[in-house]
Amino acid sequence: MIVSLLSFLISGSLMAQEYEYVGVKKCKMCHNKPATGAQYKQWSETPHATTMDRLVGEERNDPKCLKCHSTAGGVNPDLIISLTVEEGVSCESCHGPGSKYFPNAIMKSREKSLANGMIIPDEQTCLACHNEESPHYKGFNYEEYKAKIIHPIPGK
Ligand code: HEC
Ligand code: HEC
Ligand code: HEC
Ligand code: HEC
Repeated sequence: MIVSLLSFLISGSLMAQEYEYVGVKKCKMCHNKPATGAQYKQWSETPHATTMDRLVGEERNDPKCLKCHSTAGGVNPDLIISLTVEEGVSCESCHGPGSKYFPNAIMKSREKSLANGMIIPDEQTCLACHNEESPHYKGFNYEEYKAKIIHPIPGK
């Protein structure tokens, strides 16, 4: 019992060490060309890019608010390479920490990207923040909300 709990904890921490947060500027390098959908620009025009503007004064340092208003505020600080609190709810909140999947050779293959920590988000991803713990919760309808934030690759 103790042995299996221990091996669970060890494998859990090794897993966690594998994938680190690189921040939105890395993703922007390749995901801002109009021909392939300019996902960075599309994201920057959604409320997720300005979630930090909602917090004032001490709220901007309050872990209770940051956990949903900033990718950096909701993850293990040891896993942050170059993600900043100011970037708000950025790519890696929904697509997973990018340190292993962002190189082009991996990204070109969906299979390899998934094997290196990339996530294709679903409703559960959103519900981590869109829930009643939020002091301003307005309800959540996945299809409606998804339509407001989507950033497709043209022709895919
Ligand atoms: C070096 C260039 C490069 C960087 C940096 C990069 N990507 Fe990509 N990404 C690509 C390419 C190329 C594709 C494949 C596009 C296609 O299939 O047409 C892709 C595809 C994707 C997909 C779609 C996967 C699928 O199969 O539906 C997601 C999601 C994604 N990238 C997220 C990110 C995120 C988040 C970051 C930052 C952590 C990032 N990318 C950084 C080049 C890059
Ligand atoms: C569980 C996640 C979560 C937590 C915790 C959270 N928020 Fe939010 N907040 C959201 C979401 C999601 C929205 C968008 C509203 C919606 O669609 O439900 C939001 C919206 C807001 C808004 C805009 C309100 C409006 O009427 O549009 C303000 C201001 C805000 N939050 C402040 C805070 C403050 C201050 C804290 C800490 C005390 C906090 N939030 C904690 C998720 C959260
Ligand atoms: C890390 C937390 C987090 C995650 C994950 C998240 N959101 Fe949000 N979302 C927020 C916050 C915080 C706001 C409030 C933005 C504001 O009002 O400034 C918000 C706002 C929105 C809004 C605007 C709502 C309004 O009242 O106008 C939409 C639409 C939305 N999110 C859709 C989604 C969808 C779809 C997903 C999943 C694919 C998702 N979100 C995942 C934190 C999150
Ligand atoms: C709030 C959550 C959320 C954030 C933040 C977010 N995405 Fe996405 N992304 C999604 C969802 C949802 C999809 C559609 C998944 C599906 O296929 O159902 C998607 C799809 C994609 C795709 C594949 C599009 C296609 O047509 O196959 C790419 C590429 C992508 N995102 C890149 C990015 C990049 C780069 C950023 C940051 C600049 C980003 N995303 C930020 C939720 C998010």
